[in-house]
Amino acid sequence: MAKRTRIKDLLNTTEFNIPVTVMGWIRTFRNNQFLAINDGSCINNIQAVIDFTNTDEALLKRLTTGASVSVIGDLIESLGKGQRVEIKVTTLEILGDSDAEKFPLQPKKHSLEFLREIAHLRFRTNTFNAVFKIRHALAFAVHQFFNEKGFVYMHTPIITASDAEGAGEMFRVSTIDPDNIPRNEDGSINYKEDFFGKATNLTVSGQLEGELAAMAFGDVYTFGPTFRAENSNTTRHLAEFWMIEPEMAFYDLNDNMDLAEELLKYVIRYAIDNCAEELDFLKNRLLEEEKIKPQAERSELDLLTKLNFCLENNFERLTYTEAIQILRNSKPNQKKQFKYLIDSWGADLQSEHERYLVEKHFKKPVILTNYPAEIKSFYMRLNDPDDQGRTTVRAMDILFPGIGEIIGGSQREERLEKLEQRMDDLHIPKEEMSWYLDTRRFGSAPHAGFGLGFERLVLFVTGMTNIRDVIPFPRTPKNAEF
Ligand code: 4AD
Ligand code: MG
Repeated sequence: MAKRTRIKDLLNTTEFNIPVTVMGWIRTFRNNQFLAINDGSCINNIQAVIDFTNTDEALLKRLTTGASVSVIGDLIESLGKGQRVEIKVTTLEILGDSDAEKFPLQPKKHSLEFLREIAHLRFRTNTFNAVFKIRHALAFAVHQFFNEKGFVYMHTPIITASDAEGAGEMFRVSTIDPDNIPRNEDGSINYKEDFFGKATNLTVSGQLEGELAAMAFGDVYTFGPTFRAENSNTTRHLAEFWMIEPEMAFYDLNDNMDLAEELLKYVIRYAIDNCAEELDFLKNRLLEEEKIKPQAERSELDLLTKLNFCLENNFERLTYTEAIQILRNSKPNQKKQFKYLIDSWGADLQSEHERYLVEKHFKKPVILTNYPAEIKSFYMRLNDPDDQGRTTVRAMDILFPGIGEIIGGSQREERLEKLEQRMDDLHIPKEEMSWYLDTRRFGSAPHAGFGLGFERLVLFVTGMTNIRDVIPFPRTPKNAEF
């Protein structure tokens, strides 16, 4: 094919009266002469002007929204208002027709729910162009951050036999014929007959394997898909999501929090510096959307102000115990407005509580630490019991405005005996995890790590409100279209 120039580059050029080739999809065709073409390289279209008196009538009729075209012409400074440059077309070719009657994306605003149902076209909207450009930039920034710090990118397995979180929310992986299930004498499924010779599942987290790598490389991270069969139909949960999980030897909980805060600030800064156009578009989109909301429900800060605010402030760090005190005395608790009232130490925090702390009380990102052992995973390091005999673990959750929990992490239990005791208490089979426990047998070391939910990060940076709209092909309960 002829070499094409990206529209993004043409819109920024200062070289005029040169022949250029542009390929893209028609957004609109006005007055039989003005073609707005978009090639996905940026939100903006380029205008191509057609000399319709010298163009075949039948060809003009095929210039419909969605059709893909190749145009060759001279790039000139635009005579009209609204654009700096335009193409004076000399050759026009239609690469792929688009039936105007059937094309579902008309040049008007569509609801995000509607667009989710036509996933192949939703990429062609300005909103999703901006969202997925930012998603790309954030992924790149994550790798750059860790690369600059000398971390090793480790690929942990997608198929595994372990339940890293011990929460039992796993998708089974099996080649067993459901119509002919091999059984043991007691009637249970005989997984020895299965593909891997044992029961396997899609990973819920790469952490445990990451810990093995950290015990050799020092500083590692994973960035891959993770799967949770939790039946949470919310705007914050996906059944398939991407997670960034660094794991560091010789780190304690404070080092862990410092790294997490630095990472979040770094990638947000990267998006501000590299996605100005996309963020500006999404900022205005949000303002537009909020106009129809009652004053009380509108956000206090616009998107960019909110992002910058995050960079300029230290995250508020406090313990779970301190948070419970604040929540217990809070207005919504006293007035019984919380769905789950906080009456005693040990309660698990619901998103209403997390959001109260972040959005109402501190009005900035918050890091909660030292949760009760009962409500956290087996691998977290036990603290000594406090003066009231309560046991906590060195966990940390980072809570963000509008999002709730964006990061979950901890210092790990590196003492073999304590870890085995915890596993026994929680009925986690030690025999199957001996590959993991070996790290505590041979040169165990203090270490820590965390998991950043990538879609929750993209949600925050783009200001979108539903997590389904920041992943190209969302998987949620009862939904695996496309
Ligand atoms: O808090 P979680 O479950 O922690 C872990 O998986 C640890 N193994 C991480 C570690 O220490 N290496 O999950 C971590 C983060 C959450 O804070 C949240 O941002 C995101 O992953 N997350 C989800 N995102 C979308 N959909 C879901 N269903 C999610 N579950 C967790
Ligand atoms: Mg968590």
